[in-house]
Order: sequence, then structure tokens, then C-alpha cells
Amino acid sequence: MAPESLTTQASAVLTVPQLVASPLTKAAIFLVVTINPGDENRAPVLSLCADLSALLRAVGFRALEGSLSCIMGIGSDAWDRLFGGPRPAEVHPFREIRSGPRHAVSTPGDLIFHIRAMHMDLCFELATQIMARLEGAVTTADEVHGFRYFDERDLLGFVDGTENPTGSAAADAVFIGDEDSAFSGGSYVIVQKYLHNLDAWNQIPTEAQEKIIGRTKVADIELDDSVKPTSAHNALTTIEENGREIKILRDNMPFGRPGHGEFGTYFIGYSRSPRTIEQMLENMFIGRPPGNYDRILDFSTAVTGNLFFVPTSTFLDNVSPDQPAPTASSGSERVATASTPAETSASTAPSNNGSLGIGSLKGENSRE
Ligand code: HEM
Repeated sequence: MAPESLTTQASAVLTVPQLVASPLTKAAIFLVVTINPGDENRAPVLSLCADLSALLRAVGFRALEGSLSCIMGIGSDAWDRLFGGPRPAEVHPFREIRSGPRHAVSTPGDLIFHIRAMHMDLCFELATQIMARLEGAVTTADEVHGFRYFDERDLLGFVDGTENPTGSAAADAVFIGDEDSAFSGGSYVIVQKYLHNLDAWNQIPTEAQEKIIGRTKVADIELDDSVKPTSAHNALTTIEENGREIKILRDNMPFGRPGHGEFGTYFIGYSRSPRTIEQMLENMFIGRPPGNYDRILDFSTAVTGNLFFVPTSTFLDNVSPDQPAPTASSGSERVATASTPAETSASTAPSNNGSLGIGSLKGENSRE
């Protein structure tokens, strides 16, 4: 790209999203932490927000071909504690779902770091640097080291990620637009750590597994509607509104410890509204119609569940470590205040048409 067009884009787009829609990588660390009680623990977290992009540059630059990235998300209670108002319109604690033996649990988590790279050493180093900065201020709620398995398969043996949107469709799926213009360019992320009963799964015939997933196992071809049950995973997770399919962006990763009989899938889904993923979860756990639930759940148990808001990189860069603690009433405000690094106005927001403007350029060049 010509340098003058870089300059034009740089001056036209002032808000840089985090690299939510970056390509799939070979390795990932999912780190969920809670912020310890006490006002003294705010400042280290705020200071990390502001320095995260520099940390990422420092670690990522040592192996540029490793495509290191890190998405930081902030939970509902943590948002109030760190920033107060204004709040992203749809940030709230993860809503648990119970239906018969199925339970989408809601577990503690104030911050998530979704660290991705082509090799684990980069993820490991960045996680180490982040935790060194947060030492004493946070407690780890969950840490999962994920790996890419053969053919992009999950541990159930199916190719996972095929129907993810790409390009402008991915940007449209994940980035908040004018519907919440103060937080435009942000996103929501829902995570769940699933453990599989692989012994039971491997005892059922491949044809039965294919009907549960809704795709063929070896060739990863979608089953024809004439044979695909309405309870198939890919049927229940297809959401339509006004005749249009609403997509989300997933970057699930296998993880496990064979020596401990642990085999899992870390589900991570990004979307511009958490409602889409919540609807998918209701369809999976309760069923569409109720009772017609996702049979993956006969073999898989969700052991964590969290929802986070993902602010833009610009927002994080502008956080001040010594901004005053929010007052009790500020959590419900919906207008920008001087003490909060409010998100961009609609006029400076990244377009939702897939062109991330300088965001993608910045990411590719500096791994931010
Ligand atoms: C045990 C955990 C899970 C496993 C092993 C799993 C596996 C899969 C597989 C193999 C596919 C088909 C290939 C593809 O298009 O990616 C798929 C599709 C999909 N999954 Fe999951 N999944 C899990 C949990 C979830 C959850 C919790 C959600 C959302 C709440 C979800 C949403 C989707 C969506 C939206 C699709 C694409 C549907 C389509 O458009 O065809 N998955 N999943």
C-alpha cells in the first residue's frame, strides 16, 4: 500500500479496535482473573490497560512472524469498579442457564486476556509479563493453554471454525457500530470451558456424531437439511433475524491433559451484541423448541462461563492509572464524563464494513 494512503487512513480513523478478528493461530492462552478487593488494586489494573499495547509490542517484536496478539476484556462488575459510567450498553454478568441436567455455569472473572500466537513461547512470555504487572492485584480464576489440533479439529474429532465469517462479514459480526456509538469499535466476548467425556463420545457411531454436529466428520461437509436433525449443533447455533443470519466469530481451542483424562474445548465467541451468543446458548441448553437441545451437551460439561466487554485499543491506551475511583452513582451513567476515557464518537468510529482502517494496519505492522 502506498505511504500516502496510509497517511490518509491514519488521519481519517482515530479509533483502533483490538485485533478481535485476527486470523486463527496455532497456540493460545486464555487467562481469566478477578481483581482483588481493595481500592489499592485498581491502579495496577488501570496502568496495565494503558501499557498493554507497549507490552505486546515488546514481546511480539522479538518474533514478528509469530503474530502475537492479545485481546483484553473487562467484566461488568470490573467495569463499574475501574471506570464507572458511561457503560457499554450490553455489558452484564454472564447469565447462567439450567435445563434438566444441563447447566451453563456462571463463574468469577473480572478480566480476560485472550493471547494468541503461532507458537506458545510468545503466548507464555506475554502472559508472564502481564501477570508480573498484576501481581498482588488479581487472582487467577482460570488459565487454559490451548493448541491447534490436526486439520483445525476439536477433540471430538470434527473440524471446528469452518463457518466463521471472514473479511467484512467478520467485522460486521464483531464490532459495535452506531447502536452504541460511544463504544463503537468495541465488542463482546463470551467464554466457556467445556470438558468432554471422550470415552462415551467415541463409543457412538460416526454417523450419530455427525448428526449431533450437523457436518460430516472426515470431509467436514454440512449435512443436507433432509438428514440434518433440528437438534444438530450447527442448526441450533444458526440465528436469523428478519431473514438475515446473525454471525459470531469463534476461535475455539482444544486443551487437555491426557495423563489426567482431561479433554476439553475452550469456547470463545466474539459478537457486537452478547444477545446473539446468549440466544445460541439458550437453543443449545434449553432447546429450540424447548427439549430439542444440543446433544453435544450429553458428552460435554461447561465448567466456566463469563461475559466481557472488549474496549478498543484506543480506549485502553488512554486509560489513566490515577483516574479517580468512580462514585457509587456513576455506574449507571450513559454519558461521557471528564474522568472517564470515553470511547470514540460516531464520527471517529471505525467503519463496520470490514475495513478496519488503521486498526488492521497497525496490527499487521506492530502486532498490537
Ligand atoms: C463443546 C463445545 C463446542 C464444540 C466442540 C463445538 C464444535 C463445533 C463444530 C465442530 C462446528 C462445525 C464447524 C464450524 O462451522 O465451525 C461448530 C459450529 C458452530 N458453533 Fe460450536 N462448538 C461448541 C460450542 C459452541 C457454543 C457454546 C456456541 C455458541 C454459544 C457455538 C456456536 C457455533 C456456531 C455459531 C457454529 C456455526 C454454525 C453454522 O453457521 O453452521 N459452539 N461448533
